[in-house]
Amino acid sequence: MSEILTTAPTVFLETFGCQMNELDSELVRGALLTLGYRFIDDWAQADVVLYNTCSVREQAEHKAYSRLGLIAQRKRAGEKVVLGVIGCMAERDGKDMFRRYPQVDLLCGPGELDRLPNLIENMRKSQSLGEDAPRLSKDARAALAGNKSRRSTTLAAADDNLELLDLSRAFEPVDARSDRRSAYVRITRGCNKFCTYCVVPNTRGAEVHRPPDSIVEECRRLADSGVVEITLLGQTVNHYRYVHGSAVGRDGAELPQVGPGLNAFRGNSLTTAGVRTTTFADLLARIHDEVPHLARLRFVTSYPRDFGADVLEVMRDAPRICSYIHAPAQSGSDRILKLMNRGYTVGEYLEFVDRVFEFLPDATIAGDFIVGFPTETDEDFEASCALVQRVPFKNNYIFKYSPRPGTVAIDRFTDDVPTETKKLRNNRLLDLQTDVSRVVHERWVGREVEVLLEQVRVHSRAPATAVGGPLSREASAVVHPESKNVVVAWQRAKPIDGTQLLGRTPGDMVTVIDVPAGDWADSLGRICRAKVTKASPMLLHATPLTAL
Ligand code: SAH
Ligand code: SF4
Ligand code: F3S
Repeated sequence: MSEILTTAPTVFLETFGCQMNELDSELVRGALLTLGYRFIDDWAQADVVLYNTCSVREQAEHKAYSRLGLIAQRKRAGEKVVLGVIGCMAERDGKDMFRRYPQVDLLCGPGELDRLPNLIENMRKSQSLGEDAPRLSKDARAALAGNKSRRSTTLAAADDNLELLDLSRAFEPVDARSDRRSAYVRITRGCNKFCTYCVVPNTRGAEVHRPPDSIVEECRRLADSGVVEITLLGQTVNHYRYVHGSAVGRDGAELPQVGPGLNAFRGNSLTTAGVRTTTFADLLARIHDEVPHLARLRFVTSYPRDFGADVLEVMRDAPRICSYIHAPAQSGSDRILKLMNRGYTVGEYLEFVDRVFEFLPDATIAGDFIVGFPTETDEDFEASCALVQRVPFKNNYIFKYSPRPGTVAIDRFTDDVPTETKKLRNNRLLDLQTDVSRVVHERWVGREVEVLLEQVRVHSRAPATAVGGPLSREASAVVHPESKNVVVAWQRAKPIDGTQLLGRTPGDMVTVIDVPAGDWADSLGRICRAKVTKASPMLLHATPLTAL
């Protein structure tokens, strides 16, 4: 056997995009580790380089494309390396990517990741045979759902191999010093909503709901292994609904199930007599009750429509479910919401917000807005500004509209808002949100909070590097929803010498606790009670009330 097949191959894996991609990367990592691959942090040395990509905005794709050039250089230098593009961009671009980026060896869409190890093995075998090896066909190098990506109603749930990838998750005990105290658990894959600007229904395919037993079991095993916080994932997570008895495998076990369209939620029409259904509220209650050693349970992303009182009631009565709701409004103009096909009006969004605070007075609400959607006038934009000022959003992620191939919006509308206008609107909305965030954070001053400790930060005058920026600045906006580890904005502040512990409250407010210099790694993963002493638009500062 050639050398390449006998030594443990090394893999470099970089992830772009949302939490779904982070979870996919973790599962891919687990699958490849089981097969004997070793993960390294250096793309220049790895035998296999994988980019798990995002297509949601053009900018997200640019990041990945720029990486491909680096690997082309390695190949030109004669190195044997397998380059795989996986995730949403692979699915969206399809096999055309092989033509435009000949250095790409394999493509794997997010719905086909169970096939990735095979693709890699085949490619490595082919490479090991050298120049004379017959070149693998494009089909043999790609696992894409293609037109099948909307497998929707025809999906035989039993063929849903992707479920195996979720079920194959490794549950190694969490090392006391590791930062892997938070985990994601997928409850729904894909999306059926077809917002007109969005690629996700094309790249992730039809909405499929996982059986509740599998989800509860996964949560239990994660909690057993030391995970403190679980975030349930779904593009419209609160639309989870599993109808029992309709998708059962040969062994009697329940299988993933294709989700209903948006209209199915009108008036709870799915709850017909005699059919047992697990709703999202039921699922939350089950996890909370059946996994009592899990300290925190959260979920993203919520769809503002049909966020029922049943869910809020469960949240109110279940102390370990975090009162944090990420429910993007996208726009404050009914006209634009209609063009976006969001399925609610501003009035309905406000009713949802009122309902949240009625049940959960201490809840935090976060959201997303898109500025510069086609035909957005100054008046429409002002309506978005008004909504930001009306709702006490903890934070909002604000995006400039980016026309995406394959979406309804790119075909139906001209991208007619000038780039400069998009930028101005983006900045204006950000400024307004900063004011709102300040007020929301300041309301917590003097109160006690529970902080899940996640990071030690050492400030020093000497420039040091960290993810997202130098350590001598104070983070002003932390933890982007599309990448939980990246600090996205840093506020220039006087450098201070000192050590701080960083964590989050159940409401997802980033909290800083000053501590004496020392080794604090053992404190990470603990939840401490602390009193909030001051606040800034993105941070709470607190003093501990319990031992750290
Ligand atoms: N399922 C989630 C959103 C997933 S995409 C939901 O519906 O809330 C994450 C965010 O990216 C969206 O909320 C939207 O604000 C933004 N986004 C999606 N497509 C976009 C596009 N074409 N241009 C700009 N922003 C976009
Ligand atoms: Fe995209 Fe809309 Fe689905 Fe969210 S709900 S993933 S924005 S289509
Ligand atoms: Fe991006 Fe796909 Fe997530 S397009 S936002 S990685 S679902």
